[in-house]
Amino acid sequence: MTYTLSDVDGPLTLLSLLYDPIYEIQEDKEAETGAQLNETLNSISETTFKDCKHAMRSVHAKSHGLLIAELQVHPNLPTVLAQGIFSHPKNYLAVMRLSTTPGDMLDYSVSTPRGLALKVIGVEGERVEGSIGDETQDFLLVNGPMFLTPSSKKFLSSLKLLAKMTDKVPTLKKALSAVLRGTEKVVEALGGESAVIISMGGHPEKHILGETFFSQAPILYGPYMAKISVTPVSSELLALVKSPLNVNGKLNGLRDALVDFFATKEAEWELRVQLCTDLETMPIKDSTIPWPEEISPYISIAKITAKPQAAWSERLSKKIDDGMSFSPWNAVAAHRPIGSIMRLRKAAYETSANFRALHNEVKVSEPTDLDELYAQS
Ligand code: HEM
Repeated sequence: MTYTLSDVDGPLTLLSLLYDPIYEIQEDKEAETGAQLNETLNSISETTFKDCKHAMRSVHAKSHGLLIAELQVHPNLPTVLAQGIFSHPKNYLAVMRLSTTPGDMLDYSVSTPRGLALKVIGVEGERVEGSIGDETQDFLLVNGPMFLTPSSKKFLSSLKLLAKMTDKVPTLKKALSAVLRGTEKVVEALGGESAVIISMGGHPEKHILGETFFSQAPILYGPYMAKISVTPVSSELLALVKSPLNVNGKLNGLRDALVDFFATKEAEWELRVQLCTDLETMPIKDSTIPWPEEISPYISIAKITAKPQAAWSERLSKKIDDGMSFSPWNAVAAHRPIGSIMRLRKAAYETSANFRALHNEVKVSEPTDLDELYAQS
């Protein structure tokens, strides 16, 4: 169902809950879990670095698309939606990095959840701690509405198992993946129970450009709390929704599909926000619970456009995969991440980016413009 702004303006202003720090509940032994998370993520990076002699992200290592895009904030947003970087109509440059979740470079016979990292450039406003002086706002999204584990502790135990598998048993991962992606039903049936199995390859193989991506965990939205999504809207993207993609036997099947698309076509997505209107059904502390859209719909606040371009190249990979870091904590204070999962992500992303900077001997930094990328891509 599509909502227009006039459908939601009045009711949303009345219903949207104002953020209060008491909604952010510390998890039991949160600091200890955070330290172990970083250790485990680091062990994945160490393993893949030993094999590849190149330092990669400890998760979401493989990129399929590295796009230069434009984000256009809609004019005339009602005050409740005109918050943070969306407070007034503006066109921003943006970088989009499409990835899959594992920390190792699997070929695409192993199908796994997909990620979209969006970096909006040239934003203004007070910054969150750790990103003072930068001018970027990142949104990190995955192609499902909810996170797979209810607590950081449970996520840690999934990750430990994944770390043990990293680069050890690609053949097993491939076999498992082929079995698991047989039907959507199998994946759904496993949903609540085996985040690990899904992250190892239970994802049905579809065209990545047909996906809708979700932040899963909440952020501030000015004085309110919200989740974010990016969804395809142009007809050429809509044609790819649920469109099957045969990647068997192809080393870079998803990447090739993306490069083919952008050789001639333009893509358009909407960036949407879902405001928290009820803490019972839309909790901050448990990101496994998708916020019901019938209570609070996702509403379009901006358009993202990517023109035809070379969607992936070694040069772009050096600049974006190696030279940039995407994190929900590259943010203005008006979009500060909230909740336990989000708090722990801060150090995790810093650790992973520092590992890459150190071992690849490159500077990982926040761009202020894209002149350099434009010049040669
Ligand atoms: C406790 C929970 C989580 C931890 C510890 C974690 C950790 C990480 C780390 C270490 C990276 C690599 C960063 C780098 O080297 O630059 C990463 C990448 C990524 N994560 Fe998470 N993550 C978590 C939850 C999530 C959630 C909830 C989402 C979105 C729904 C998400 C989406 C992504 C995406 C899209 C990337 C790839 C970023 C890129 O393209 O550079 N993560 N994550």
